[in-house]
Amino acid sequence: MKKILFAASEVYPLMKTGGLGDVAGTLPITLRNMRHDVRVVMPAYRDVLKNAGQPKLVATGLPGVITPTRIWETKLPGSTVKTWLVDSPEHFDRSGHPYCGPDGNDWPDNADRYAAFCHAVTAIALDRAGLAWTPDIVHCNDWQTGLVPALLATETARPATVFTIHNLAYQGLFSWPTFQRLNLPASLWSFDAIEFFGRLSFIKGGLVFADMLNTVSPTYAEEICTPQYGYGLEGLLVARKNELTGILNGADYSAWDPANDVLIKQRYDVGTLHKKAIDKDELRRKFGLPAAADTPLIGFVGRLVEQKGIDLLLAAMPQLLAMDIQIVILGSGEARFEEALSLIAQQQPDRLGVRIGYNEQLAHDIEAGADMFCMPSRFEPCGLNQLYSLRYGTVPIVHRTGGLADTVTDATDDGITSGAATGFVFDTPDAAALLDAIRRAIAQYRQPHSWQKLVRNGMHKDFSWKRSAIQYLALYKRAEQTRTTGADI
Ligand code: ADP
Ligand code: GLC
Repeated sequence: MKKILFAASEVYPLMKTGGLGDVAGTLPITLRNMRHDVRVVMPAYRDVLKNAGQPKLVATGLPGVITPTRIWETKLPGSTVKTWLVDSPEHFDRSGHPYCGPDGNDWPDNADRYAAFCHAVTAIALDRAGLAWTPDIVHCNDWQTGLVPALLATETARPATVFTIHNLAYQGLFSWPTFQRLNLPASLWSFDAIEFFGRLSFIKGGLVFADMLNTVSPTYAEEICTPQYGYGLEGLLVARKNELTGILNGADYSAWDPANDVLIKQRYDVGTLHKKAIDKDELRRKFGLPAAADTPLIGFVGRLVEQKGIDLLLAAMPQLLAMDIQIVILGSGEARFEEALSLIAQQQPDRLGVRIGYNEQLAHDIEAGADMFCMPSRFEPCGLNQLYSLRYGTVPIVHRTGGLADTVTDATDDGITSGAATGFVFDTPDAAALLDAIRRAIAQYRQPHSWQKLVRNGMHKDFSWKRSAIQYLALYKRAEQTRTTGADI
């Protein structure tokens, strides 16, 4: 049995802005079900404290942390996983989005907020928070936890550390005066540590100091070692290639399976696929699209940012809307994309339905009701929606990158027959290639027999978390084996 402290800045269902929340809400429960002693630690945002039931106060004040900090203990909803909420009101007692203010810009004190979180995680990891528990492993996720491996590295007795890169595009970069203000060990201001071209880089704390590194798909693990995807960190990642692996995320089938999805109008499975038509009608109804039984319906759910290729979808829109298809889009993000999409939906309400915002219910409706799911991401560390789509018989159309390349197999006649093919994959991230893939998908849709086979191929694929959790356990073991203590920084 391993003792694992899992640190993340969002954990579903307490807080979620994207896939990190999904992963942090599921992997710990999977490990717990495999009889490991996992504890989760996350910031006590105002909404988290509101939704955490009746948490127990387990610590007041932390050594080395000057701002008033308390730790509350609760359970991850629906599980026995102990969850510690780091309550530093100055940093986390605000409503709304965890990373940005109401104006959509990052909170100006994000460096202070996540440095405070990292100090608290470090104190817990070293059993200096009065919680009477010492982990074997600290598993950190993304830049918000990046300082933890750096702070732990100077200790002579410490747990092993693993750092997971969910998205290298977000690095937690701040100025030199910010570094000074944070009162971090002066030795960390070095190109071999967390300084990055004159700035403080939170993510480098993880990349340089964690005993083992991973990202969330094998292909993305390769991609980030190249200049195109590495953002200048590729040299460091290549240097650490022996300690860097790719572990695919799983899908939480207790929430994302049409056979037992409590949010969708009509449940169905591979044996009752005809019932999916009821969810298609419901989806059209919710988006105000006219009924058109034979018209394929394409869905999109995601953050409206360039990463997700929403600009490619916009560029392809005139041609798409001239075809006999309907499209539904749910997302929020950059104002320019929100506005452009809303405008087209107003002009062509029979063809395009757009909902701006974050809406868990509608995300499930789209997975269940659409015929195809479009993910033209320019890069995608793993991606979860294509995994959900496969299970819902909603054929994914994806760019061949990162986790999309690892989880969707392009439709060929042979592949459809053999069971290998599950979707449509295109190679260049441009509107023409996307259009071509959508045209291929529509042509296939018009051949009901092989379409049904393609749909079923996807529904039979298994991306459950257990397989990934076994790989994480192997990674934890390697981290314990490679751990050095009192690093010479
Ligand atoms: P990322 O983490 O890069 O945003 P993922 O595909 O890994 O992408 O995960 C996104 C998760 O967030 C999925 O569970 C998806 O359904 C959800 N999601 C994204 N945008 C929305 C939205 N506007 N409303 C509801 N759920 C959303
Ligand atoms: C990131 C990535 C996404 C991945 C998610 C969870 O947000 O953009 O591809 O699925 O993290 O690992």
